[in-house]
Order: sequence, then C-alpha cells, then structure tokens
Amino acid sequence: MYKNIIDKKPALFERSDCNIWTDPYIQKQMLNAHLNQDSDGASRKQESILKTIDFISKYIKPDNRLLDLGCGPGLYTSLFKDKGYEVTGVDFNKASIDYAIEKRYDIKYICGNYIQEYPEGRYDAVIMIYCDMGTHSDKDRDKLLRNIYSSLDNGGVLIFDVFTEGIVEDKTEQKNWEYSPSGGFWAGNEYLLLSQTFHYVENKAFVYQYNLLTEGENKHFIVWDRYYSEGEITDILKGIGFRQVSAHKNILSGNNFTSNNEMFIIAEK
Ligand SMILES: C[S@@+](CC[C@H](N)C(=O)[O-])C[C@H]1O[C@@H](n2cnc3c(N)ncnc32)[C@H](O)[C@@H]1O
Repeated sequence: MYKNIIDKKPALFERSDCNIWTDPYIQKQMLNAHLNQDSDGASRKQESILKTIDFISKYIKPDNRLLDLGCGPGLYTSLFKDKGYEVTGVDFNKASIDYAIEKRYDIKYICGNYIQEYPEGRYDAVIMIYCDMGTHSDKDRDKLLRNIYSSLDNGGVLIFDVFTEGIVEDKTEQKNWEYSPSGGFWAGNEYLLLSQTFHYVENKAFVYQYNLLTEGENKHFIVWDRYYSEGEITDILKGIGFRQVSAHKNILSGNNFTSNNEMFIIAEK
C-alpha cells in the first residue's frame, strides 16, 4: 500500500535525494533549532558555545583570518568577530545564512556547499563545529581536508570536533514511527515519519534514515555520523600533511540532544 518506503540498511555512505539542511521546509525548522537555547539540537547551548570560543581562542592569534565551515546562523562567527578576527562563514542552509547576514553585515557569509565548492581565499584558522566532519563520507572528508590544508598558511590551524568511540554507549540501532496530525518539525501538515538507526561497527559509523510520508509525497533522508579513535583521526590528518595533531576531551558542558562523547582536534600545518 505505501509505495517507495526505503527501509533497508543503506550501503555505507549512501546518499539520499533529500537533505535535512537544505529541504525548503526543514531548513527553517533547523534555524529555529539553532536558535533554541533550551536544547543542544542543531547548535549547542550558549554555555558550551562560550566554552568552545574560549578553547579555540587559545590557538588563534589576534587579527587571524578565520573560516567557519557549516557556520549555521552565525552563533560562533559573531562571537569571533567581536574578538577582532576577520571572519568568513559558509553554510548551505539558506535560511541560516539569510539570518546570519541580517544579523551581521560586517561578516562575510557564503551560501554554498563547502565540499563541492570550497571557499576561495587564504586562512590562518579553519573551524568546523558540532561534529560535522563525521557527517561526510570518508572520500568527501579527505577531499575537504585537502582543500582545508591548501587554504591554510604555514602555521595555520584546523580546529574541529568529532564523536569518539564512546558514542556507542549512547546510540543503539532502532526503528520508530511518529505520527504528527497537524505538522511539526518535519512538515507543515499531517505526516508520518519512519526513523531508523543502523550501526556500521567495522566502519565506525551510525546512519539515521528517515522516511517522511505526507499527503501525496514521500521524502527519504539519510544522515551519517562517523566516529573516531584519537589514533585514527591523527593518522588521517598526518596523511594529509598536517605536522602536529592533538586531541582534547571534556571541553564542553553536558549535552541534552546527542552524545557527550566528543573530542576537539587541533591540526597544525
Ligand atoms: C550541526 S550544524 C552546526 C552548525 C554550527 N557549526 C553550530 O555549531 O552552531 C551543521 C551545519 O553544517 C551545515 N552543512 C552541513 N554540510 C554542509 C556542506 N556540505 N556545505 C555547507 N554547509 C554544510 C548545515 O547546514 C548546518 O548548518
């Protein structure tokens, strides 16, 4: 009866036609989630954002040129700009970028896909916050890391966070139906949502698969969460050419949306 429901375990790093960050309706819900201070959904809460800014600021010098990959509505870029850095933010969620531009005309914002079109320019620091590195396939991650490396001046740093192997304590394989009679996060009107989580133990990845059923339309979303050991991510970064890599744990406050098992990585060119 229900056509086109895709409920089999996706192939490793398979992509869906629809994207939770760029879907015309969901991108606006994502913006609301970024701005909601009661939840760590989409962006971490302010307390953790401030701890992250303090941590990162130790590794970047005054007047540095900073690129924020996946900047969302600019919660970090605006604080870095206030600290005197020259800031560029890129994100492919148009609702978030429009909000960010509206808020701050003194920051350069680019609405685009940083994997497909890496922003031009030279940078002293590139940051990527909230485990976004883990949402990409290993192939796209390596392409991105090579572009980041090329865009950094010697002595420049890449700073990002990834989930550690401890995430397996917080996530389990599951399947769940949600019925929303008058719309909600996923659609403006009545919908049914099938959510599935699968674990790829050998590849250190989880996938979240969503089938969204609304009147007359089905949408299919796949979201990846790759996690790392300190040794693996260090080897990957050294393989790209970064000469010094360090991992830092327990930087943030507790998280009420996703796993608390993350580490920050500092990679120096
Ligand atoms: C988990 S959110 C984190 C946002 C922001 N770093 C923060 O912590 O407030 C991930 C962000 O990355 C963006 N994003 C994901 N993949 C992207 C890509 N390939 N190109 C541009 N933006 C991307 C999403 O639109 C989203 O705003």
